[in-house]
Amino acid sequence: STVPAESHPMRPYSAVTNPVTGNDILYYEVEIRPFDQQIYPDLKPTRLVGYDGISPGPTFIVPRGTETIVRVMNSAELPTAVHLHGSPSRASFDGWAEDVTLPGQYKDYYYPNTEAARMIWYHDHAAGIVSLAPTIFLSINAQTQTAENGYFGQAGAYIITDPAEDSLGLPSGYGVYDIPLILSSKYYNQDGTLRSVRNERLSVWGDIIHVNGQPWPYMDVEPRRYRFRILNAAVSRDWALYWTRLGDDKKLPFQVIASDAGLFTHPVTISDDVLYISVAERYEIIVDFAHYAGQSLELRNLDHAGGIGVDVDFVETGKVMRFNVASKRTDDPSTVPAKLNEHVRFPPGSSETRPVDHHFRFHMSRDEWLINGVAFSDVAHRVLAKVPQGTVEVWELENASPGWTHPIHVHLVDFRVLSRYTNIPGNKANTNNDKVETQSNDDHRSRTSPRSETSTNNRGVMPYESAGLKDVVWLGRGETVLVEAHYRPWSGVYLFHCHNLVHEDHSMMAAFNVTALRD
Ligand code: C2O
Ligand code: CU
Repeated sequence: STVPAESHPMRPYSAVTNPVTGNDILYYEVEIRPFDQQIYPDLKPTRLVGYDGISPGPTFIVPRGTETIVRVMNSAELPTAVHLHGSPSRASFDGWAEDVTLPGQYKDYYYPNTEAARMIWYHDHAAGIVSLAPTIFLSINAQTQTAENGYFGQAGAYIITDPAEDSLGLPSGYGVYDIPLILSSKYYNQDGTLRSVRNERLSVWGDIIHVNGQPWPYMDVEPRRYRFRILNAAVSRDWALYWTRLGDDKKLPFQVIASDAGLFTHPVTISDDVLYISVAERYEIIVDFAHYAGQSLELRNLDHAGGIGVDVDFVETGKVMRFNVASKRTDDPSTVPAKLNEHVRFPPGSSETRPVDHHFRFHMSRDEWLINGVAFSDVAHRVLAKVPQGTVEVWELENASPGWTHPIHVHLVDFRVLSRYTNIPGNKANTNNDKVETQSNDDHRSRTSPRSETSTNNRGVMPYESAGLKDVVWLGRGETVLVEAHYRPWSGVYLFHCHNLVHEDHSMMAAFNVTALRD
């Protein structure tokens, strides 16, 4: 099928002026509700649950400095919580995992949209909560709640625009030359319905690749530049993405211009290499199809996410999407300037001399995913750090679970990735090319591919991780990463966690408390 060029841009219901800030406030309403989608033409449609009954949810396009209020109504069967991932929201609007909206209720979320242009995203964040009776919900960790809600459709793009970005001349026109590619990966039952992930405890790799909600779509493009905003919205799958001509495995060059926190200082060219993107990361790329008029290109994915990951692969998980380039030349007024954003807000001060303020180990113990030995369900101990408001801190994030990887997300802030080192003592990694047969429409056996020894892949910080700020960083096999952030603008208790949604649901989540200046 063709890729839906965009999920419908969201229209505000009304606009008023904030009497305190003088900014416009746009008011939106979104309803979380079930809907049916036909995936396999000859099988049953699958029942999904999405924002406004579509998945991905509608795209918000908001000018920087315009405040938004989003009323989210829960017309689904499970409790939900909405997190606007990448927004410096006040704690009460940040989608705290236990701040759930029960079926039949709504919550109004307020967002300041103060940051520079970027693509952030909204998704469910509800902690494991089960219904004992139609009106009684109990918080427990037995089930994956965020994973289930995300997997069944609760995720969408939220784009902040600003005049500085608009003036650069990048390929523009949302849904025309500026297109989101929202990646996910799923398993289906034999009857064509989506398989629940509620009882998973390790990872959901998925054998059917989706882009913008469609399995392995294609898109017809003109021979000119396009901007693609890639978001990894999978439950667990990581990617090592590259472009090729159809039927050829030679990696073609492309440019990366932005990531989680928006435009880089300058474009980063990837040639003969891959782009690693773990769960919840965003990378925006420019592909110039002018060189490929009349040809077909493929966006592809390396096995085990290029060996940095431990992802289990299936027959077709090396393919993501096809692009058919028209042969008739078209005008291309777009450019990619050598300088994109000279005002990336790197944390102030000198990072070289700053000692590590907090060390967090991401590990597994007794079947639970933990941070420094603590589970999110351990209410008395789960605030793992106090950070005075306005300070800059360096956090050391250590993957202490050999054989697994963790994409780590810190709420509220954007961070700079300072360094990464790799240590895999005698670790068995997943590097062979034996693919597992397609698992969908099959019984639910968990089949992992055989693992073999591999040499250490000491990749350091990738150039596209340091050319801008991030809010997720991938701890690949054996990796420890240092990140530095300015803890602003608000005080409050915020979450940080592994964004593999199964790990997150099974307790690899904790809190930090940004303590107010005058307390
Ligand atoms: Cu994208 Cu705490 O999440
Ligand atoms: Cu994890």
